[in-house]
Amino acid sequence: MSTWEAEADLVVVGSGVAGLTAALDAAALGLRVLVVTKDAVDSGSTRWAQGGVAVVVGDVPGDSVEAHVADTLTAGAALCDPAAVASILRDGPAAVARLRARGAVFDTEDPRVGPGIGTAGGRLARTREGGHSAFRVVHAGGDATGAEVERALVAAASDSRLPLLTGHLAVDAVRDERGHVTGLAVLDDHGRPGVLRAPAVLLASGGYGQMYASTTNPETSTGDGVALALRAGATAADLEFVQFHPTVLYDGPATGRRPLVTEAVRGEGAVLLDRAGTRFMTGVHPLADLAPRDVVAAAITRRMLEAGTDCVYLDARALEDFARRFPTVFGACREAGIDPVREPIPVTPAAHYACGGVVTDANGRTVAPGLYAAGEVARTGLHGANRLASNSLLEGLVVGARVARAVAADRRVLREAPTLAPSPVVPIAPRGVVQRAMTGAAGIGRDGAGLAGASDAIEAATGIGVPVDRAGVEDAALTLIAQAVLAAAGTRTESRGCHVRSDFPERDDVWQRQSLEIALDATGRPVVQTSNVQVGAA
Ligand code: SIN
Repeated sequence: MSTWEAEADLVVVGSGVAGLTAALDAAALGLRVLVVTKDAVDSGSTRWAQGGVAVVVGDVPGDSVEAHVADTLTAGAALCDPAAVASILRDGPAAVARLRARGAVFDTEDPRVGPGIGTAGGRLARTREGGHSAFRVVHAGGDATGAEVERALVAAASDSRLPLLTGHLAVDAVRDERGHVTGLAVLDDHGRPGVLRAPAVLLASGGYGQMYASTTNPETSTGDGVALALRAGATAADLEFVQFHPTVLYDGPATGRRPLVTEAVRGEGAVLLDRAGTRFMTGVHPLADLAPRDVVAAAITRRMLEAGTDCVYLDARALEDFARRFPTVFGACREAGIDPVREPIPVTPAAHYACGGVVTDANGRTVAPGLYAAGEVARTGLHGANRLASNSLLEGLVVGARVARAVAADRRVLREAPTLAPSPVVPIAPRGVVQRAMTGAAGIGRDGAGLAGASDAIEAATGIGVPVDRAGVEDAALTLIAQAVLAAAGTRTESRGCHVRSDFPERDDVWQRQSLEIALDATGRPVVQTSNVQVGAA
């Protein structure tokens, strides 16, 4: 089959908050930008974000950027990069202001309808989520923040006539003989190969929640970006820290994307109950139901195991005007036959966010020249071992903008040079095998034997092949990332943040002084390398 070609200064993979922010800013700087996404423009994770954007604008008495930094470091369980945290959070207010200038409408305190969801002007409404010491999370549409962010950025992209190639899957970076990126190999919906020639490629393709049977992530979250970056010579870190959201609506055993019940519901007063109707977060953590997410998810898991139940309950009956304040959650509950105004909502944890990813500096540069990463696919050091709620949209906005400036500053020139592409032959295991192995052994509560068993089960089901379509490329990515997560989780003999090991239940500060980086060996297998890091206190 013949290969078609196109050329740009920057190819952006993914059309969520980080990708579109970078693309719009890069275009404004005069770069020729091409955005490529494997599905529809709004099919990534951004539109599913509910709670909001954590940001200190300066109008909440007693709150400060320093307090936001401190909360982020505490949630990150001493594995954040303090310099990255401070610089990203400091740039938050300007990033949110730019997003509003691009048309995003956030909820304001509207005296006619009460606090929280008006849009008639006035001070931005705030909510609170787990691990935050202040009401600092701005939101839109009540609990539809991501949908509004995505809408505004897609509209801005359309207004700017940003070239957008939907239905095109990123397969591999193309590099020259020095290893510098010279473009991106893609497959269209019909399996036709193409090459987008560019001296800069930004991965903004989201996380890998689909590695688990049940997740808040959309179908597109299959780890393609991390796999592509590893094959292009970049490294990944903190992959073992897969964040489970504590409260996903439970409507019977189900797989695939599950409806989220935003933490803001707890932020505004709802409490967790076990089957007997007893509150169980008091005494677990000083912030009780509003403890950081890893603490709440682990406590729910323990209580479900003790009680032999598949869910616990979120009692939001005391909240005023639930349907107006949380329309998305209300709609999902009603669809499942639950009335959150009259009865507690059955909830369970599910895979939600990859705290680790492709290692970048705070401007999105990876170690592979010409390859950049931003958003969930990247590991900037903001999240450490457990992401603070609603820091992710903020990171996408801030780092997306920085990548645009970095690409412009790097001014890499596309050379006519022989190209290297990774071997098209890759290990692929069936998705169901990967999901079963990871759900059984690499969720909340892992141990060495289970992790090794999961790795063996995936290995036994793995064949070698050339992916020729989207399913094949995604399955190859999931296979690679699952083995990388298992290797990192097996190596980290402690419990910290989202990584909870039943055979090593305590934190061990030996691991605080090192990070586990993943790279591929000569055979394409993920291997763990340890390196010393500067870490944040908590
Ligand atoms: C939520 O609304 O609970 C999720 C927000 C987030 O993951 O940051």
